Amino acid sequence: MSTQSPHLIRKKVIAGNWKMNKTAAEGAALTREIVEAVGRETLVDTVLCPPFTALESVARALEGQAIKLGAQNMHPEKSGAFTGEISAEMLRTLYVTHVILGHSERRQYCGETDGFINRKVLAALASELRPILCVGETLAEREAGRTLDVVRTQTEAALAGVKPEQITTVIIAYEPVWAIGTGKVATTAQAQEVHAFIRALLTRLHGAALSQKVRILYGGSMKPANAPELLAQPDIDGGLIGGASLEARSFVDLVKAAMAAV
Ligand code: 13P
Repeated sequence: MSTQSPHLIRKKVIAGNWKMNKTAAEGAALTREIVEAVGRETLVDTVLCPPFTALESVARALEGQAIKLGAQNMHPEKSGAFTGEISAEMLRTLYVTHVILGHSERRQYCGETDGFINRKVLAALASELRPILCVGETLAEREAGRTLDVVRTQTEAALAGVKPEQITTVIIAYEPVWAIGTGKVATTAQAQEVHAFIRALLTRLHGAALSQKVRILYGGSMKPANAPELLAQPDIDGGLIGGASLEARSFVDLVKAAMAAV
């Protein structure tokens, strides 16, 4: 195994998940503010994930910048009778490079299963989109002592059939459901424990050399105030940010926190 610092092996990622917020015009305005502060920053991988309807205007505001564009979901099929759905190819034509898959809100409100999420992961990789795969336990699961079991099941199921040469393209986001939008952030020890567990799982699946290269993000009430401590953990390689990504100032501060943690 490499003795290099994990901070040197894995570039940190700060991804903003805007969820169902911002019109096309509002999204472009927010993007322009973020671009002004960190548009050409390459020390950290910065990704903006607006709703589908704002992808085009945000893509335009990102032209010539280092910041990447992500979608919040996609359908695994290439095309067909899937009313209301969006394919990988449609995202690609809008300059999308990343796609959030398996977010707990989609698991909870849209009934997404591990099997369906697995199909999406494979389809995203086949279309050269980087999946940001979300996993995480509910409060009831944590209180029942089932956190690691749940995370193992979700991660293994979603990554079934992913080839060794594809695994470093995948970004994993550990998002404890009880910490999302609640202001209750996981303690650094709780987060680091699960991140290290996911990396050990990846080592078992694909070997240590590859697992050391996979970025594992933390998501759940991450803010500029708690980010430095989280980002200093050896297996926390960035953040998937909800609420704090909707305002340029807090999001830019998170990118700067990741730069400082490099
Ligand atoms: P919050 O940062 O609002 O808790 O949301 C986290 C999240 O769900 C990102 O995908």
